Amino acid sequence: MLLKDKTVIVTGGNSGIGAAIALAAGREGANVVIDYVVHPEATEELDDEITRAGSEAIGVDADVSKVADLRRLIEVAVAQYGRIDVLVNSAGIETRTSLLDTSEQDYDTVMAVNLKSAFFASQLAARQFIAQGGGGVIINISSVHEDWPMPGNTPYCVSKGGMRMLTRNAAVELGAHGIRMLNVAPGAVDTPINTSTTTDPDKLKALNASIPLGRVAKPEEVAETVVFLASDKAAYVTATTVVVDGGIMQGSVGL
Ligand SMILES: NC(=O)c1ccc[n+]([C@@H]2O[C@H](COP(=O)([O-])OP(=O)(O)OC[C@H]3O[C@@H](n4cnc5c(N)ncnc54)[C@H](O)[C@@H]3O)[C@@H](O)[C@H]2O)c1
Repeated sequence: MLLKDKTVIVTGGNSGIGAAIALAAGREGANVVIDYVVHPEATEELDDEITRAGSEAIGVDADVSKVADLRRLIEVAVAQYGRIDVLVNSAGIETRTSLLDTSEQDYDTVMAVNLKSAFFASQLAARQFIAQGGGGVIINISSVHEDWPMPGNTPYCVSKGGMRMLTRNAAVELGAHGIRMLNVAPGAVDTPINTSTTTDPDKLKALNASIPLGRVAKPEEVAETVVFLASDKAAYVTATTVVVDGGIMQGSVGL
């Protein structure tokens, strides 16, 4: 088992990619801390599924845009399992607004949930890793849009671009402590954030046609990459982005 007895925190952990990561980590032997803000019943179902897979899980209701909530999330994880080993920052939102259309509120909300959260969750996790000793791993779920413009979704792209530099800078600072920090950049994945595209047959057909592998990803396909990167099998991988996009950035005619 790749994550036997490790404690893994997943933000935005009861839905989409975060839920797939939580389950995959549990199947690899991890104790899983599922951060969530809505749908407690989904957290309970996931907790049960992880328990059936032979691991332990707890849900923590914490809003990642608030540093006090992030602090409580880490404190609960340490109180429950004694230490933390992996933080996955997966919580994210988008407003699908252009530069011209974006309100101050849109901008602040997207930046707080996507980028400020990753910054301070990583800071708090890194302080805990250093205090307990033995290193640790931080994985941010960014996006191909950390590099690739998406007209009409500008605050989202700005937040993911910020994650790109957060990871490179912080990983350099934290390397001496044995802490690895990485981004995983999915392309198009079949999750609730994408429902407006995946439930429209014409849009889905056009999207699939723009992807060299011919289809959007399943959340589990992102999760398996995250589990590998979180494990000691990837002990020399840090300060970079691993793209999981079916080739979309190389072969696309645009969305
Ligand atoms: N689905 C895709 O195509 C795709 C592609 C690239 C990157 N991503 C990224 O993957 C991550 C997960 O998205 P997803 O596709 O699984 O969608 P999703 O909507 O299923 O998951 C997002 C999660 O974030 C949670 N969340 C929102 N605001 C929060 C807050 N303030 N505090 C705590 N949690 C909060 C939501 O409740 C939800 O569980 C996001 O960061 C997204 O940007 C998704």
